[in-house]
Amino acid sequence: MNTTPDTIKHVASALAHQTLLNGAITNPVAGVRPMQLLPWLHVVKIGGRSIMDRGRDAILPMVEEIRKLLPEHRLLILTGAGIRARHLMRVGLDLGLPVGSLAPLAASDAGQNGQILAELLAQDFVSYVEKPTISSQLAIHLAAARAVVGSAYPPYHHHEFPTSRIPVHRADTGAFLLADALGAASLTIVEDVDGVYSADPNGPEGKDAQLIGEVSYADLAKQPGTLPVDRAMLEIMANARHIHSVQVVNGLVPGRLTAALRGQHVGTIIRTAAPRP
Ligand SMILES: Nc1ncnc2c1ncn2[C@@H]1O[C@H](COP(=O)(O)OP(=O)(O)OP(=O)(O)O)[C@@H](O)[C@H]1O
Ligand SMILES: [Mg+2]
Repeated sequence: MNTTPDTIKHVASALAHQTLLNGAITNPVAGVRPMQLLPWLHVVKIGGRSIMDRGRDAILPMVEEIRKLLPEHRLLILTGAGIRARHLMRVGLDLGLPVGSLAPLAASDAGQNGQILAELLAQDFVSYVEKPTISSQLAIHLAAARAVVGSAYPPYHHHEFPTSRIPVHRADTGAFLLADALGAASLTIVEDVDGVYSADPNGPEGKDAQLIGEVSYADLAKQPGTLPVDRAMLEIMANARHIHSVQVVNGLVPGRLTAALRGQHVGTIIRTAAPRP
């Protein structure tokens, strides 16, 4: 007769025999700050509509600036979706496609923008990689090259929340989720405006719009009207673990991205709920 105790059924673990819904039990184990996987990594989100859709006039100076940054920083460059995604969504909505079918269509536009950017930086050993590679092999790619390009869209795809017919988790949200999960040193969001304003500077009330120097995610979420960043990103900032602030900068002004990566205040700083280290 086998008298060996069935140890597999009796693993000593604080979480093994409990519900995961009880914070009093899970917090002592799961409530601690996670490690930073890539603490030296700087994440840059390049706007799809604001930069990539403008073509060579905006893209080539941006590529030049990124090229000069490579010796200084290791970068994960994530691109947003642009006008093609808007058109795809319009066609899809017209046909009655659910949000979970529209999200991967928009994500494919973000990926195309990434591929364009990577081609322009290929001679600097930069390449475009898909999300599964970012998840599992980013470190080895960054050992081979100073920067890697990917799509900023998060891969919610068919799991996209059905709160709206337009995907709520778009490029800024995806970039933030990734930067925080990796424990990156920073996230910079590159737009075609100097930062976040009290109202759309290109909208009907644009002449009265004030540039916001620094704001908390919670206060910005209360601001009515449009924003140049996803509102879902502000919600996620409430649970940030590492990225304590994000800077929104104007990528049409040469030097702004470089200054932001050097820690200078040259746009709008959005503070998250994560403490400063
Ligand atoms: N409160 C605001 N402050 C600043 N810009 C705003 C504001 N509200 C709207 N905008 C507009 O947002 C525009 C940028 O658009 P958007 O954020 O959709 O582009 P993008 O970030 O390049 O797109 P994507 O997220 O697909 O990459 C700016 O040119 C500006 O006119
Ligand atoms: Mg934007």
